[in-house]
Amino acid sequence: MNVLKTIADRFAKALEAIGVEPDQYLDLIRPSQDVKFGDFQANFAMPLGKKLGKAPRDVAADVVARLDYSDFLETPEIAGPGFINLRVKTDYLASLVQKEAADDRLGVEKVEKPRKIVLDYSAPNVAKPLHVGHIRSTMIGNSLARILRFLGNDVVADNHLGDWGTQFGMIIYGYRNFLDPNAYEQSPVDELARLYRLTRQLVDYQGAKKGVGELEKQVVAAKDALEAQKGRCAEAKARDDAEKNKETKDALKKANKERDRLVKALESAQEKYDGAKGKIDAVESNPELVKLAQGRETIAVDVLNETSKLHHGDEANLALWRQFMPQCLAEVDKIYKRLDVQFDETLGESFYNDRLGPLVERLKSEGIARETEGAVGIFFEDQDVPMLIQKSDGAYLYATTDLATLEYRRDRFRPDAILYVVDFRQSHHFEQLFEAAKFIGMEGVELTHVKFGAVLGDDGRPFKTRAGDAVGLKSLLDEAELRALAIVEANDAARDAEGKFSEEEKRETAKRVGIGALVYADLSQNRESDYVFSYDKMLAMNGNTATYMQYAYARVRSIFARGGIDVDVLRREFADGTKTLSLGTPEERALAFELTNFQSALETVSRDYRPNFLTAYLYVLANKYSSFFEKCPVLKAEDEDVKASRLLLCDLTSRTIAKGLELLGIQTVERM
Ligand code: ARG
Repeated sequence: MNVLKTIADRFAKALEAIGVEPDQYLDLIRPSQDVKFGDFQANFAMPLGKKLGKAPRDVAADVVARLDYSDFLETPEIAGPGFINLRVKTDYLASLVQKEAADDRLGVEKVEKPRKIVLDYSAPNVAKPLHVGHIRSTMIGNSLARILRFLGNDVVADNHLGDWGTQFGMIIYGYRNFLDPNAYEQSPVDELARLYRLTRQLVDYQGAKKGVGELEKQVVAAKDALEAQKGRCAEAKARDDAEKNKETKDALKKANKERDRLVKALESAQEKYDGAKGKIDAVESNPELVKLAQGRETIAVDVLNETSKLHHGDEANLALWRQFMPQCLAEVDKIYKRLDVQFDETLGESFYNDRLGPLVERLKSEGIARETEGAVGIFFEDQDVPMLIQKSDGAYLYATTDLATLEYRRDRFRPDAILYVVDFRQSHHFEQLFEAAKFIGMEGVELTHVKFGAVLGDDGRPFKTRAGDAVGLKSLLDEAELRALAIVEANDAARDAEGKFSEEEKRETAKRVGIGALVYADLSQNRESDYVFSYDKMLAMNGNTATYMQYAYARVRSIFARGGIDVDVLRREFADGTKTLSLGTPEERALAFELTNFQSALETVSRDYRPNFLTAYLYVLANKYSSFFEKCPVLKAEDEDVKASRLLLCDLTSRTIAKGLELLGIQTVERM
């Protein structure tokens, strides 16, 4: 149920009755910022008055005179220059909430026109361990899948695994050169991860050694340029101090601006140099690594060759790939299990390998792609760079696979939309891909890059380990659970003997609380912003956190336990009309009103694929609940009817929180 929609429908009729095309004005009916102005406010009288050449207050009065409202709204109030304040009748609100409570879907209606949506998320490169960034794609995608589905859409969750890229060249090379057979036997995945990191480190080392001289020169040049510019700034300043006119002022400003640019340029040159130096030092301070690096000057090319051999069907490399894949998949599956994430399809890049050659040939013969300097690309109007789909050495690219994937999805799923939940750094790739899609008959299919920002460490830089690697996701989950366990144990210590948790309960609760905290912290951000990772913040008992939400839920449930209330009986009595919900205080009314906004929150999420609108809603709801709980005794209410009404509000609040968390991919706990 969506009260706002009912209001908009009624206003549409009223506007039509005065001869106005309503669409653009309906967006100006919104929830009020302050209950003083009612529950909703219609703010269209000003633009409409302008258009009709009438006083906005008169326009507002005209519309209200034709508005059919009395079954659910109090008499609308026209305020100030023509705002229309709308207040839902409390009886009506109570009946809505009662209906919501009687519904398994909590009153959330399915969309009128369900869409077929392919959702591409998680998609890690499986030859290396998942890192912190993967929580973003995985959990944003997972919650969107759940929400879009709950709203009635047909969602295909497809995990487009990176199971065919250069990383496999790395582990194949590592396996051939650095394998520790005992370690591999003990734990293949850990050994493969080690081989990946080691090979990668040596590739980076050789690259850094080749490049560091040039980088050092660039730092020197940047320093010189900056010094020279500082001189110019001083001159410009002296001239301006002496002459103080527009020209000298502008010149000074310009000189300073250039200086600031050069400061940045120096910083960035220095950073690149430091990075290369760090990679060199890491190897050269370790005699073992020095030994391994010796005689491997060409390691970068050798690794690429391993990948290329794999792609060209080399039997030995294919056999290794087949040997590694199950291990890699088992590892990511463990993480998915902990996060409670599922997919309908797992069609990785390797699945499309056989389609790439024919695709490129066809695009060439249809004139969609053409050769450029030995490579093949798709060219776009008003863009200088083509999208390359084949390199001059014959290799295919990320974009080639994505084009093949698009065609496959189009033919197999006939989707209305394909959504890609991928890091913002791939924006350019997706812009090009979506342009190219126009050439292959994808009109009418919505293609959206659901992009997200980075996870940062305390220092405001991408969250890295001390060794400079991205932080592993597994270690994050472990740590979050460990910290949650400390909270659970502290709570448990305060409980009396008969109420204490078993070890199993402690572990399960810590898991839900720890992982929930991590997931909620991620989803509660505007997905396009970067955010700073902090265990303390995400596990805080107060504020917009999963912990607060889970706690609110558990607190409500405990009322039922304490009062010995049979919740099924309660629900039944309200569902069959034996009891009627009453909303006697402002706090009860405010909570009830918020409960009716659940659907609208979910619709807002689905409009622009932003789960943070759901976390924001839950937070407001939990706060309204707190105010209610402070002011309105529940078990000690003045009479049985009020008590029952309040219990129903409690029950519905906890169900809405639980459902909201579930749609975010987070579990609740009965006690904490
Ligand atoms: N495997 C890619 C990466 O880790 C992400 C793939 C996203 N999906 C896609 N269809 N391109 O960067």
